[in-house]
Amino acid sequence: MRKSILFFTGISLISWALFATPSFAAGSAKAGKAKSAQCAACHGVDGNSPSPAFPKLAGQSAGYITKQLTDFKTGRRVNGIMAGQAAGLSKADMENLGEYYSIQKHTKGAASNAKLAKKGARLYRGGNAKTGVSACMSCHGPSGKGIPPKYPAVSGQYAAYTSAQLKLFKDNIRKNDDGLMAGIAFRMSLDEIQAVSEYMAGLY
Ligand code: HEC
Ligand code: HEC
Repeated sequence: MRKSILFFTGISLISWALFATPSFAAGSAKAGKAKSAQCAACHGVDGNSPSPAFPKLAGQSAGYITKQLTDFKTGRRVNGIMAGQAAGLSKADMENLGEYYSIQKHTKGAASNAKLAKKGARLYRGGNAKTGVSACMSCHGPSGKGIPPKYPAVSGQYAAYTSAQLKLFKDNIRKNDDGLMAGIAFRMSLDEIQAVSEYMAGLY
């Protein structure tokens, strides 16, 4: 028993050392890097988008990125720009891109309005019992790292992008998760959306 545990530990240490990526990874980061040239203008060479108009992808889980690209391609998640970008991608391209961005180092974000962020922290960590908003932390994690692959990392994302997505969920325009986030955002006020987005921008 003990021996086999040691054996398996040894094997996984070896595969970590050899490939420096988890052994369950489906995509190839090298192929993803080559494919990412067409994405760099908006999302940055390493997935750290230079502009708040575009979400950061660096450090996001590979499975979540692959799912979003699939949803953009099939029209399940509606966005004109990304529909065009995803149209020519194969399933393998999406997995490779996901792998590439997931291993990039995320540049730290920060909240620009401390007072608003403090208000957002209460909602993120405790929800709003009065209006039935669930605590974001329960799915996106106490430090916003998410729970891969289903629950995305949200820490350090541009507040403008986060609040835009929360509004799309609230208006039931983004519903590519069978309405899970729409059901949550529906109960949020626009002030709460602004506050929690500000908090998440500097959450680690
Ligand atoms: C012309 C600019 C542009 C280019 C080029 C572009 N994107 Fe995007 N991307 C966007 C915008 C804008 C959004 C936000 C869409 C929305 O609001 O739903 C986005 C969103 C995404 C998301 C969703 C992120 C999240 O957190 O849910 C992923 C994943 C993504 N892009 C990957 C890519 C990949 C991979 C490429 C290259 C094949 C690419 N993008 C090329 C503009 C671009
Ligand atoms: C029950 C679990 C759950 C809870 C609670 C939850 N979320 Fe989510 N959230 C999800 C899932 C699942 C997705 C991914 C949707 C998809 O696949 O496109 C998501 C996606 C998001 C996104 C989009 C991220 C991106 O990169 O585009 C934002 C922003 C977000 N959630 C914010 C919040 C906030 C703020 C709260 C608290 C008010 C919250 N979530 C509570 C499950 C949850």
